[in-house]
Amino acid sequence: MGKIFVIGIGPGSEKYLTKAANDAVKNEKIDIIIGGKRALSLFKNVKKNKKTIGKNINKILKFIEKNRAKNIAVLTSGDPGLFSILKPILASASFSKDEVEIIPGISAVQLAFAKIKDTWEDAELITVHGRDVSLMIGKAKAQKKGKLVILTDSKTTPNLIAEKLLKNGINKHAFVCENVGLENEKMLEGELESIKNKKFSGNSIMILKNL
Ligand SMILES: C[S@@+](CC[C@H](N)C(=O)[O-])C[C@H]1O[C@@H](n2cnc3c(N)ncnc32)[C@H](O)[C@@H]1O
Repeated sequence: MGKIFVIGIGPGSEKYLTKAANDAVKNEKIDIIIGGKRALSLFKNVKKNKKTIGKNINKILKFIEKNRAKNIAVLTSGDPGLFSILKPILASASFSKDEVEIIPGISAVQLAFAKIKDTWEDAELITVHGRDVSLMIGKAKAQKKGKLVILTDSKTTPNLIAEKLLKNGINKHAFVCENVGLENEKMLEGELESIKNKKFSGNSIMILKNL
């Protein structure tokens, strides 16, 4: 029986890849590395069996199960503890906790807060991925203090979120942190009105504060 190493590779650039994560991926006992395109691109020079995975969680779990005899490195963006494949792996009846090793990474959320020079101890974190937007609207309405952090995706981008919140009579002070830590990083701060007509990719984090 092999082990499953769930490794957080940070926001996506070498600069924020920890030594522990880098060493874990390159460790000689790893037989297969699985991850998204961006994550795998950090390990172009690592000569190991690699498998590019998409977003279909069941397919990924099945692949891991099929290769249980091997030691597998599963790469996640940011930190595995935040909206990643780690949760379904831990919840799966197919794998025991003893078979799983977790190597933390720098979350894109951590880096976003560092960039906007603020703390995140009073933040609530949500994702729009695979969730109904009404959940996000409800959270924004209920936000009395602190920060609401929204992880976006290509379907529900920051401009679309701004539009939906405004339509529901909610206005906030917002930060949009797109591709944080990457060469095409874009940061914007303003009220939702100024965000709804701009274009952002789904690889963004929105931080909302009350006005
Ligand atoms: C499946 S979640 C994984 C979050 C990750 N585990 C973390 O700790 O950052 C993917 C979402 O994280 C956010 N994200 C990941 N990397 C990012 C980056 N470099 N810049 C902005 N947002 C990022 C985006 O909202 C993206 O859709």
